[in-house]
Amino acid sequence: MSAVVQVPVFDLAGIRKDFPILTQQVHGKKLVFLDSAASAQKPRAVIDAMVHVMEAQYANVHRGLHWMSERTSDAYEAVRDKVAGFLNAAVREEIVFTRNATESINLVAYTYGRTVLKPGDAIVVSEMEHHANLVPWQMLRDAHGVELRIAKITDAGEIDWESLEEKFADGKVKLLAVTHMSNVLGSYTPAERLAAFAHARGAKILLDGSQAVVHRAVDVQAIDADFYVFSGHKLYGPTGIGVLYAKREILDAMPPFLGGGDMIESVSYERSTWAKPPHRFEAGTPAIIETIGLGAAIDYVQAIGFDAIAAHERALTEHGLKVLAGIEGLRVLGSAQDRGGVISFTMKDAHPHDIATLLDRQGIAVRAGQHCAEPLMGRLGVTATARASFALYTTPEEIDALGAGLLRIKQIFQ
Ligand code: ALA
Repeated sequence: MSAVVQVPVFDLAGIRKDFPILTQQVHGKKLVFLDSAASAQKPRAVIDAMVHVMEAQYANVHRGLHWMSERTSDAYEAVRDKVAGFLNAAVREEIVFTRNATESINLVAYTYGRTVLKPGDAIVVSEMEHHANLVPWQMLRDAHGVELRIAKITDAGEIDWESLEEKFADGKVKLLAVTHMSNVLGSYTPAERLAAFAHARGAKILLDGSQAVVHRAVDVQAIDADFYVFSGHKLYGPTGIGVLYAKREILDAMPPFLGGGDMIESVSYERSTWAKPPHRFEAGTPAIIETIGLGAAIDYVQAIGFDAIAAHERALTEHGLKVLAGIEGLRVLGSAQDRGGVISFTMKDAHPHDIATLLDRQGIAVRAGQHCAEPLMGRLGVTATARASFALYTTPEEIDALGAGLLRIKQIFQ
C-alpha cells in the first residue's frame, strides 16, 4: 500500500477575498501589496472581531464586577491562552501583552537588564538586528555598564559561528539577543542551535520573532527560548498589541516595567507590592480591542495552518528570487540557505527610493530605505535597499508584476 501524502490545502483565491483592502486600486492600477514585512493587511475576521467588541461586548477589563466587564475580561484573557498555545508556552502566565515587539524588548532591557544583568556582564547581538533589538541594549549599556558585543554575519546573511564563539570566549556573556528572521535579508536563524549554544555558555537567549512568527510555526519549548517577542500587526492583527514570552521563573524574578493600575498587589502611600506575572507587566488599561483582534488573527492563520502557509511562501520566495535574478543590474542581498519571503535588492543606477516611487506609480507597494537596520546597511556596503516582502495572500502574478515593473524602471534609468 502506498503511503498517504498530505498535501497542504491552500485556497489562495479564497484567502484573498478575506482581505478587503486587496481589491483597492492605487493610481488607477490594481494594488500589488509587497510590503507585508512592514505591516500586514488585515482579514475580515480580525476587522469583524474588533468591531464586535466595540459594538456588543466592551468594558474595561479586570476591574468591574458587572456582566460587561466580566465578558470583556474573559475575551481578553482567552487571547492569552490562544497566544500561549500559538507559541506552545508551558503556561499562560508566560505571555505578557505589550504594545509591540519593540516594547517587549525594551521591557526586558529595562527590567531584566537592570536587575539580573550586572555591570561588566556582556550582551551579544548580531549584525543583522532591527534597531528594536539593538538600541535598547545600547541604552542599557550606557545606563548600567553592561558591554554590548556585535557578532558578525556571513556575506550570505547567516550567523557567523566563529565570530559568535569569539564573542562568548571570555565567559562574560549573559544574554544573546538575536533575530529569528531578518527583516532585511529574509534569513531565518537556527533558533534551537542558538539557544543550545547560549545555554551551554551560561547565557540566556532572546529571539526577535517579529518576522518569523508570521511565516512558520514557533515552539518556544522546542527552541528552549528564554524570551521570545513579536508584534500583532505583522501577523495580520492590529497595531498596538505585541507579545513578550518569557519562561515563568524568569518573569517571576523580574521587577515591573511601568507602574500604575492593574500591576499591583497592594498600594499604600508609603509603598506598593507587585502583582504576579503577567499582570505585573501590564500597567494601565491594556489594548483590549487590539488584543481581541490579535486573537482573531491567530485563529485565522491557524485555520489555514502553517504547513500550508510555509509551502505557499516557499514557492513565492523561489519564484521571486528567480524573477529578480533575471533582471540584469539587480543585486539581491543575502543568500541564506534558510530564507523566507523578504527580498532586499538594489539596482544599478537607480536609488531605492526612486525604485519604490516608480513602482508605486504602477500600483506596486514595496519598502525602500534602511529598514530600521542602519548598521546592517553599512555591513552590506549599501546606503539603502528596496525590499519586496510576501504574505499568505501574495500571488505569483504579483511577483511577475514586480519583475515587469522593475524592467520598466531599468529602461527609464538607462
Ligand atoms: N520592522 C518593520 C520593517 O521591517 C517596520 O519594515
